Amino acid sequence: MRARSLPGGLWLGALLCALPLGHPSACRLSITPKDPAVPFGGHVILNCTSSCAGESSLGWETPERKVMEVGPGWASLNITNLQMWDLQPLCYITSTNIMEKARLHVYRLLPPEIHLGAKIVAGHREQVICNVSSLVAGSSPSDINVTLSTAGRPLSESHGDPAVGYSFVAQPTQHGQEIVCQAMLRVGHQVLSAWARTTLHVWAPPHSVQVSVERLLFQVGANITVRCSAQGNPQPELQWELPSEASVELSEHGRTVAVRSAQLTHSGTYRCLARNDYGSSSGHVSLFVKNPPRSRILTGLAATVVPLTAGLGMMQFLRKRPTTT
Ligand SMILES: *[C@@H]1O[C@H](CO)[C@@H](O)[C@H](O)[C@H]1NC(C)=O
Ligand SMILES: *[C@@H]1O[C@H](CO)[C@@H](O)[C@H](O)[C@H]1NC(C)=O
Ligand SMILES: *[C@@H]1O[C@H](CO)[C@@H](O)[C@H](O)[C@H]1NC(C)=O
Ligand SMILES: *[C@@H]1O[C@H](CO)[C@@H](O)[C@H](O)[C@H]1NC(C)=O
Repeated sequence: MRARSLPGGLWLGALLCALPLGHPSACRLSITPKDPAVPFGGHVILNCTSSCAGESSLGWETPERKVMEVGPGWASLNITNLQMWDLQPLCYITSTNIMEKARLHVYRLLPPEIHLGAKIVAGHREQVICNVSSLVAGSSPSDINVTLSTAGRPLSESHGDPAVGYSFVAQPTQHGQEIVCQAMLRVGHQVLSAWARTTLHVWAPPHSVQVSVERLLFQVGANITVRCSAQGNPQPELQWELPSEASVELSEHGRTVAVRSAQLTHSGTYRCLARNDYGSSSGHVSLFVKNPPRSRILTGLAATVVPLTAGLGMMQFLRKRPTTT
């Protein structure tokens, strides 16, 4: 320590600071942040502080272009666009051999890539693969774990492997489900994460074909409505096989068959065929149209009409009798 450049007051302060520590070499340098993780091409600001503030000036030594800022007892180094994998900038106290190396953990972590089959079809075995490209300076292989999950439920995990796969038989219900791939990479003392997501698009042949009608038994003259519904992706086209095409109307894009004033020929099986690019399926309902029991209604009417008129006649006869008497 040289007194020549220091005014009296500062010299006293420096002396007081140095005295309990004895020799100036007991001054310590510390760098924050400690052992930072810095992405390749990224930036970091290192701040070096001395435990004997004000005593001496600090500097940084680095092969990268230096952008420094200095204050009393500290010097910061601003590194932008880091292009070295093994950069160890050195902080030192001017004119001494007191120095401290900054340890940077340089890494590269790209977002995971999720690979799915070009066309996922329900009922087929499919595979989803997620792989991650990463590099951590001085650590090979990388300490990386990759997880595939859907709706918060893990499907598959890897430990120490940058790729993970999951094999499954595609279900129509998986259409629209989100698949998330998350990578956890250890860089120095930190664990960094990167993730990607994708939505499943599941094509499905027609399924769950349902044909419905309010009743199975109708009388001639009734109106009948038969409905068909089918699931599938893309939405299946519907076709009907009918017992009779007479007085039949299709509506709601072929989902409904309406029979106006049913005839006996409308009895039979109503079959709905659902078709799309991935297959076909069908459903049916069998219904019966019968004549109303016309004869029995008529005989019933006759039976009630006859006694009624007879009774009325009798009453008239009874009523008339006293007046005539
Ligand atoms: C460096 O650290 C010193 C002491 O903690 C602080 O006063 C100074 O502002 C810091 N410099 C930067 C650039 O962060
Ligand atoms: C991931 O795997 C695919 C297919 O095997 C390959 O084409 C791609 O280069 C890999 N990507 C990474 C980042 O490893
Ligand atoms: C990866 O998983 C292993 C085992 O579960 C664990 O010990 C390790 O800390 C994990 N590494 C990371 C980077 O998460
Ligand atoms: C059948 O439908 C037509 C038209 O909606 C209606 O006029 C007629 O009364 C219906 N017939 C029966 C038996 O409900």
